[in-house]
Amino acid sequence: MKLAVIYDSKTGNTRQAAEWIAAGMTGVEGVEASAFAIDAVDEAFVKESRGVVIGSPAYAALMTPDMRAWLMGAGRLGLAGKLGGAFATEQYTHGGGEMVIQSILTNELVFGMLCYSGGGSCGRPVIHMGPIGVNGNVEAHNRLENYEEYFRVFGERFAAKAKELFGA
Ligand SMILES: Cc1cc2nc3c(=O)[nH]c(=O)nc-3n(C[C@H](O)[C@H](O)[C@H](O)COP(=O)(O)O)c2cc1C
Repeated sequence: MKLAVIYDSKTGNTRQAAEWIAAGMTGVEGVEASAFAIDAVDEAFVKESRGVVIGSPAYAALMTPDMRAWLMGAGRLGLAGKLGGAFATEQYTHGGGEMVIQSILTNELVFGMLCYSGGGSCGRPVIHMGPIGVNGNVEAHNRLENYEEYFRVFGERFAAKAKELFGA
């Protein structure tokens, strides 16, 4: 079963987060996962994917304008009925990552996707809306690597749910 992770990234943080999610997915037996930047999406792979996770950096507490523009044209990918998830990176602990995730999930619902985060149902680490990584640009106590486990575990849970729903 194929799963896709799609991201916007200007300085590499969200790309790294996407790769951690894809690695977590790939660890689930029978899953083939790939991460794509919005300007290099393998559309055939996405169309064949049972689930798609979408991520963006926080820009003024929202997704990037480029991600928003990409989402507006993503109807051609046949996303309806696929499992959907969302993630974000930011440089401030309170920098708006959850609003980025919420707005991506809103777009996914509009496409007719089935949105999943695991929420509190999977125990620790608890990931309510989707994983958020805070980089070390301005907060000395933060660095993206502190959040690797969240992204990997999210990828594992998302893949396990996709297998449960759609079979291998
Ligand atoms: C134009 C601009 C706006 C930003 N706005 C926010 C923000 O509102 N909150 C925040 O925490 N970080 C903000 N950031 C920082 C990025 O979200 C953060 O560094 C992110 O990890 C960058 O991801 P990337 O390396 O994948 O491009 C902003 C960065 C830029 C360039």
